[in-house]
Amino acid sequence: MNQRDTVDRDILDRAAEHVRGVLSGDGTGHDWHHVDRVRRVALRLADAEGADRFIVELAALLHDVADWKFHGGDETAGPRAAREWLASLDVDAGTIEHVCEIVAGLSFKGAGVATEMPTIEGRVVQDADRLDALGAIGVARTFAYGGHRGQPLHDPDAAPVLHESFAAYKEPGGTSLNHFHEKLLLLKDRMQTESGRRWAETRHAYVEEFVERFLSEWNGEDGP
Ligand code: ADP
Ligand code: NI
Repeated sequence: MNQRDTVDRDILDRAAEHVRGVLSGDGTGHDWHHVDRVRRVALRLADAEGADRFIVELAALLHDVADWKFHGGDETAGPRAAREWLASLDVDAGTIEHVCEIVAGLSFKGAGVATEMPTIEGRVVQDADRLDALGAIGVARTFAYGGHRGQPLHDPDAAPVLHESFAAYKEPGGTSLNHFHEKLLLLKDRMQTESGRRWAETRHAYVEEFVERFLSEWNGEDGP
């Protein structure tokens, strides 16, 4: 490793340690392991897409620190926390700006709200975060978070809502099964990189099959 690599690794290790401390014990699907999975997938996408690995890893590590859900719905809290923490390290201003731009623009904000990322590093981290909302893990996280919100698994009388604003998306209410239609099943067509799109296909198919099976069991249609 050259000197730059050593410095970068040190910053990444310190970021990982910081995030681990902040998120440890979270039961809403925002735990350290979510961050660690996003980092792993993001680095694979970064290699496939030719994105800067340092920016991608740093943004992936910091992406959920101070999530708005834990700060009274304040969506500026995440980038601010990331910025304050990065400023305490030996990180150049351009890197801080880039990482904060990614953290600020990353999350899903409702079916009708565009969240495009201006750089390939941002697109890679966003795709990785969304891949963790799909597949078996995505299903598990939905019910874990739904339980945390105290919402029902399913209510046949409640129709899904395609939220047109972030404010509406954040409102309490809804069901976990509806979240599949309100977010999970929309993600495949919103992936921002070619490699992310391809990766999303199998995870999407799994989620689709889960919803079908859930409803067939709900209605007692799956028996012998
Ligand atoms: P991410 O970390 O992927 O940006 P969020 O912070 O939006 O995701 O939410 C964490 C997890 O909880 C994700 O898997 C997401 O799909 C799920 N989730 C978010 N909102 C709801 C909801 N209203 N009901 C059930 N699950 C939800
Ligand atoms: Ni996340």
